[in-house]
Amino acid sequence: MDFNLTEEHLMIQQAARDFAQTELLPGVIERDEHSIFPAEQVKKMGELGFLGMMVDPKYGGAGLDSVSYVLAMEEIAKVDASAAVIMSVNNSLVCAGLEKYGTEEQKVKYLTPLAKGEVIGAFCLSEPEAGSDATSQRTTAIDMGDHYLVNGTKNWITNGGTASTYLVIAQTDASKGHKGINVLIVEKGMPGFEVGPKEKKMGIRGSDTHTLLFNDVKVPKENRIGEDGFGFAFAMSTLNGGRIGIASQALGIAQGSYELALKYAQERVAFGKPIFQHQAIAFKLADMHVKTTAARLLVHKAAVEKDQGLDIAHSGAMAKLYASEVALEVANDAVQIHGGNGYVAEYHVERMMRDSKITQIYEGTSEIQRIVISRGLVK
Ligand code: CAA
Repeated sequence: MDFNLTEEHLMIQQAARDFAQTELLPGVIERDEHSIFPAEQVKKMGELGFLGMMVDPKYGGAGLDSVSYVLAMEEIAKVDASAAVIMSVNNSLVCAGLEKYGTEEQKVKYLTPLAKGEVIGAFCLSEPEAGSDATSQRTTAIDMGDHYLVNGTKNWITNGGTASTYLVIAQTDASKGHKGINVLIVEKGMPGFEVGPKEKKMGIRGSDTHTLLFNDVKVPKENRIGEDGFGFAFAMSTLNGGRIGIASQALGIAQGSYELALKYAQERVAFGKPIFQHQAIAFKLADMHVKTTAARLLVHKAAVEKDQGLDIAHSGAMAKLYASEVALEVANDAVQIHGGNGYVAEYHVERMMRDSKITQIYEGTSEIQRIVISRGLVK
């Protein structure tokens, strides 16, 4: 077992760190305050290969491994968790799903521009009545011979307004339960497809989250991914990898909050000495560091297992469950260490505390992760 990163991993980590410091940090407070999507920054992320990191270069990707991906995700999320979720959805839900299960035509037409970052994608599973209970899809995709007719509503869709390519999960045959669900590639601009209202969120306010409306949208049969009825298995399999992305986003929020608190504790003087020299603060920082390091080990273990082609349902869920809990705890502690300054925008940690909460909710709540983990305990 070797815990050292390779030269290549270190280079990717440094490139993401430099990008985050020079391109994401300036303006991150303003983007949060006014819920501004980081369009320019996302364009640059595409040019640098951060939006299709694991995709085969023949489809426009960077051809890197999952360890590279989680390293880059952590660096981006340390500074801007909104940019991190945009990146995560594009990489580990949309590109990964298309690359693993799409046809050659679908990969050429849809995956290539997504992996190059020329367009971005959205993964549309959640509905008003089907959040955690993902089998209860109300959106329908009725088989009309050469096309599907899609009707329904999707909620809380990351990249909902800015995406061009949408992977939409919908029920074709309710009598077959989860085996009657399909996944279809829907393009922005298809008649009957409308981007609904943008959500006003507690955190990750730079990412645009929308309701999507489908009203008799005709989707050609060739836009179905996989065999008829494969949609639920597609969603579950893709989410297993997506959870590693969100775990690394949570890890980045924790590490970023910890670093800010450590720096502040060495600069801020109270009772005649830097507050780091007060044991109450030093011990808190020690705990924050231990938890963040433990979360990183789980995230890297899941990424390594993914690269080894192992089943990552269990390890991905463990990484997401633990890293998201750590993100909340560490960001909360970072605010506490900053005192009054921690409660105002300029010191960043209040945003990170708000941003951290979503990591316990999307791509399966903590309760869902515990379902996945506990099911894996008994064979
Ligand atoms: N990996 C692979 N297959 C899985 C799986 C997993 N993690 N979980 C379930 N399956 C398979 C089962 O093996 C079963 O397969 P068979 O057809 O061969 O029998 C099938 O799926 C049905 O499974 P269950 O009977 O266990 O289904 P269930 O309804 O009891 O529970 C669940 C499934 C795990 C709770 C699932 O509904 C789930 O994961 N819910 C959470 C949904 C979610 O994560 N939503 C996130 C939305 S996307 C998002 O958030 C993106 C974003 O904005 C950032």
